[in-house]
Amino acid sequence: MKQTDFSKYLRSSVLGVETKIPLASGHYVTAINFDNAATTPPLISVMNGIVNFAPWYSSIHRGKGFKSRLSSNTYEEGRQIIYDFIKADKAKDTVIFTKNTTESINIIAYRFAQENGESVILSTDMEHLANDLPWRDKFTVEYVSIDGVGKLSLNDLEDKLIKHKGKVALVTVTGASNVTGYINPIYKIAQIAHKYGAKILVDGAQLVPHVSFDMKPHGSLEHIDYLAFSSHKMYAPFGVGVLVGPKETFEKGEPTYKGGGDVRLVSRNFIEWADSPSKDEAGTPNIMGVNALIDSVKTLKLVGLDAIHEYENSLIHYAISELKNIPGIDLYCYDKKEDERVALISFTMKGIPHSLLAEIISREGGIAVRDGLFCSHLYVEKMLNLSENDLDHYRTHHNVLIPGMVRISFGLYNNFDEINKLIELLYKISKNMKSYTALYKSFI
Ligand SMILES: Cc1ncc(COP(=O)(O)O)c(C=O)c1O
Repeated sequence: MKQTDFSKYLRSSVLGVETKIPLASGHYVTAINFDNAATTPPLISVMNGIVNFAPWYSSIHRGKGFKSRLSSNTYEEGRQIIYDFIKADKAKDTVIFTKNTTESINIIAYRFAQENGESVILSTDMEHLANDLPWRDKFTVEYVSIDGVGKLSLNDLEDKLIKHKGKVALVTVTGASNVTGYINPIYKIAQIAHKYGAKILVDGAQLVPHVSFDMKPHGSLEHIDYLAFSSHKMYAPFGVGVLVGPKETFEKGEPTYKGGGDVRLVSRNFIEWADSPSKDEAGTPNIMGVNALIDSVKTLKLVGLDAIHEYENSLIHYAISELKNIPGIDLYCYDKKEDERVALISFTMKGIPHSLLAEIISREGGIAVRDGLFCSHLYVEKMLNLSENDLDHYRTHHNVLIPGMVRISFGLYNNFDEINKLIELLYKISKNMKSYTALYKSFI
């Protein structure tokens, strides 16, 4: 299929891409969404799936009605589809449905703390807070550093593993950054971690929706021990997250959430937990959400994640090459074509605060972008060269704007015309900065 036809086909598979929204002028335009790293709109197949499943929806597992049995089957078949999607081992791994990536990582952090209280966790300077804060109050956490262009230092990773002499229980790392779009070399990281007896967790929130994922076989040095991701970042915005890891991790210890559904038998004197994964799915599960995730996975597989990745890559490389030429723009990435990345990029424009720039882009162009620290505070602070003194200043002065960046992130339905509209507007803003700043100064 020609690229333009493929692009049209992808665009036609997503709901809401032609929605009209008002600009500051009152004129209506088709909304452009460049905030897909935050959350994605639903696929049409997902919405159809919700409507088709709704008449059959019922409580699962212990219900004996026909609809209950059908809903239970749908839910459990969903697990099997996830195993295949990420190439997990059905005999050895468990797939747990959670609320989102944040909850998945919190669950694994609590479980790890029960077994490995004295251990060290290696996080990194490029993590989303979801893969940093859950570890802080339970472990000694150290952060693998980044280099001058924001890439993870594998030398520092190995140095830290050597320094802690077998005490590192887990290396926890993002699969792809939500700030620079860099895809981390997770299999190399897995090899290094395993060499020193540590496990690896991949935060797949930004990677799994865009790149075909492979957990690799147990026993291989490249094996990914734990994986977390969210359905709302992969065109199924109905509140499901996924946590995958070895069954033996979850068979041991107590679940984070306790209540109905995660026990086999309880008396006043004992609690016998259910087997995994039910043990970690207390309460009524999100059956509709799982149904939506499964429809999304089926559609992404049908289109082909390699083809999607290639198309999204062509969008981001085009955007980067155009953004580079705009006066005053600083890009926060290294943009070698052969670099592995997902389709997002962050930038600033000299002379204009990030929040104001994002506001103008929205109100003048109808283009949704994100600005700030993107919940990756350590990373953005480093990329912006903010010192501890600077941070203390922002911490204590609540009326001062905390520095940040503007981020654009593409989904499979975005296209080159939309990028051209953003580029054209950024040229206009850069040329008429004073008048735009005066017009929108109340938004600073
Ligand atoms: C890299 C990364 N990890 C984790 C998260 C948290 O995902 P959720 O909000 O779905 O829990 C995000 C969300 O933006 C992210 O970008």
